[in-house]
Amino acid sequence: MGNLTLAQEVEREMARLSKNGSSAFDRLQATITQMTWQCPYCQTVYAPQMILVNGRTNLNFDEFIDEGKCPCPESVKIQADLRAKEQAQAALALRHKLEQHPNWQEFDTNWHSSAAAKLDLRRFKHRVMKSHLNELSGQGLLVSGEFGSGKTFLLTALVEANGGAIVDELRLKDALVSGSSAADLINRYNKKRFLLIDDLGSEDLDDEKALWVRNKLVGFYIGLLGDRAKDKSQRTYFTTNCPLTDKGTNSPCLPLLEKVGERVYSRVLGLLGRDTDNWISLWHDGLDFRKIGYM
Ligand SMILES: Nc1ncnc2c1ncn2[C@@H]1O[C@H](COP(=O)(O)OP(=O)(O)OP(=O)(O)O)[C@@H](O)[C@H]1O
Ligand SMILES: [Mg+2]
Ligand SMILES: [Zn+2]
Repeated sequence: MGNLTLAQEVEREMARLSKNGSSAFDRLQATITQMTWQCPYCQTVYAPQMILVNGRTNLNFDEFIDEGKCPCPESVKIQADLRAKEQAQAALALRHKLEQHPNWQEFDTNWHSSAAAKLDLRRFKHRVMKSHLNELSGQGLLVSGEFGSGKTFLLTALVEANGGAIVDELRLKDALVSGSSAADLINRYNKKRFLLIDDLGSEDLDDEKALWVRNKLVGFYIGLLGDRAKDKSQRTYFTTNCPLTDKGTNSPCLPLLEKVGERVYSRVLGLLGRDTDNWISLWHDGLDFRKIGYM
């Protein structure tokens, strides 16, 4: 069996089949006609290959080039344009998913009278959308701010729109106190693609049990954040009432690093990276939305 060209092989097989007036001839011809494709840009004709299988000729569809996949420059460019268009449409659909969430719709970035507060609220909302669209460096966001400044409210929209979970530090503390193991709790959350850790550093250190609870909490955070750092597709969000530094805020709380300790803080840093855009600060007088009604 010499190396016949594709055209020669097809021709030979068709001649053989047509001699017996076989219906196989019609089928083969129909298949070949159907599978033949001409690139509209460079006019190259693509057709299935004839190969021998157990002494019989057969059509090899594996090597047949898919319609629209001609490697000529025009075709490549059109394919790229098409892909870009599909990606833009996918991003639009994704954006729409978050915009549908009631918390997203309700979150008003203009309600506070100060321009600086409005800017911070807008920035927060903008970063949340960027993260939803997967356009951020780092694996999440941390929002430090006043009580009632909308941290939980807006991040809940993000996490729920992505089918994620929320861990609340106070409930976590209760679970640990009432005997849940840190390992079980870690396993409950380490596979979630989107996770909100709400009220990081809220736990109180004053009471007797504090040190013991704190050690359990630290163990939980270190284990969980360590696991989540390994899977780069996961996103972790944090809210906290602890300020990021001890300067320039009216917060009565200790700075986050002091409150959660070096080991937890460095793992948060590991997830978010040093890009300051991933560290959002909402500290402005009167930013407690819950108090609007009473002012
Ligand atoms: N910008 C906003 N636009 C509309 N509603 C808001 C806004 N910010 C907060 N709210 C409302 O205020 C309530 C309190 O907000 P949220 O619970 O998110 O505060 P927080 O920042 O998480 O506070 P804390 O630090 O006490 O947990 C929300 O349930 C929501 O109804
Ligand atoms: Mg909150
Ligand atoms: Zn072509």
